[in-house]
Amino acid sequence: MLVMKKLEEKISKLKQEFETALESAHSTEQLEQVRIAFLGRSGQITELVGTIKELSAEDKRIAGPLLNELKKESQENFDQILQLCELREAQAAENKKQWFDVTMSKPIHVRGTKHIYSQVIEQLEDIFISMGYDIADGPEVEKDYYNFKALNIPDDHPARDMHDTFWLDIPGMLLRTHTSTIQVHAMESRTLPLALFATGRCYRNEALDASHEFNFTQAECLFIDKDISIANLLATAKTFLQTLFEKKDLNIRVRPGYFPFVEPGLEIDMECPFCLHGCSTCKKTRWIELLGAGLVHPNVLRSSKIDPDYYSGFAFGMGIERLAMIRHGITDIRHFHASKLNFLNQF
Ligand code: PHE
Repeated sequence: MLVMKKLEEKISKLKQEFETALESAHSTEQLEQVRIAFLGRSGQITELVGTIKELSAEDKRIAGPLLNELKKESQENFDQILQLCELREAQAAENKKQWFDVTMSKPIHVRGTKHIYSQVIEQLEDIFISMGYDIADGPEVEKDYYNFKALNIPDDHPARDMHDTFWLDIPGMLLRTHTSTIQVHAMESRTLPLALFATGRCYRNEALDASHEFNFTQAECLFIDKDISIANLLATAKTFLQTLFEKKDLNIRVRPGYFPFVEPGLEIDMECPFCLHGCSTCKKTRWIELLGAGLVHPNVLRSSKIDPDYYSGFAFGMGIERLAMIRHGITDIRHFHASKLNFLNQF
């Protein structure tokens, strides 16, 4: 009798546990866990039903139907709940397919623009390509040879002091101070005649102010062929500036200038394209200083194994930021790399 009482208690406790487990299962996956734990091969209900073997013949007679009922009822209960759950999940999957939230906002895509600096470089390249020039470039970390020696600036030349060079820890290595280095690379590696345009970052250890950055960009033009004269230089510079500023009658003027790698050396000024009687861009002078230029010095040709008796050439260079500042009325060179959106968004 005692055995039976205990069995009855066990059965009702297990029923209770099974029901609680079923109630807290919210998906077919969780229900499967419940099935394994209670009705599986070594589940709690299966195991309790199995204990019938250990009972006496008399107890078996009473316990048999009880345990059978427990098994049958539990399985039916489970099947019913599983069926409902499967139905619910199928319905939810169906709903997901059919419905979408029309009020949901789509992510905002902020449209960027090209940096003004890149825009100007691309414009310059387009102009020179349209005049038949090739685009060239060279490294920012340079040997003394390319920045100075091959450009007719030997070790003891005073012009070195003007370049405020960043020297590297490696002897004879520096950050290029101008893009004229590219002239030397081009003369070494290309065949004549040469018509090249190059742009690139340069570095000078200068005090910073509205018109000086230690990191700035230059553009360089080089032309070498037979019988090249100052007339070719002036015509090219003038055509380039007239195209860039979209002014067919834009004038230029020439002053003597000194750069060791050209002879004669010139400074080319451009007539102010923005005013008739003087403005803030031309500082009321009507002229804007823009290009360093000249005919390639025979020593420069010689150091790149070009015979100056047969070949001559011209070169000119300019500051890209300065050009962009003049063109777009930008008043401080430090704006270019300050990553300020209210500046960048203007262009
Ligand atoms: N490299 C010169 C500078 O940095 C500019 C220049 C280029 C002058 C080519 C003459 C010829 O100022």
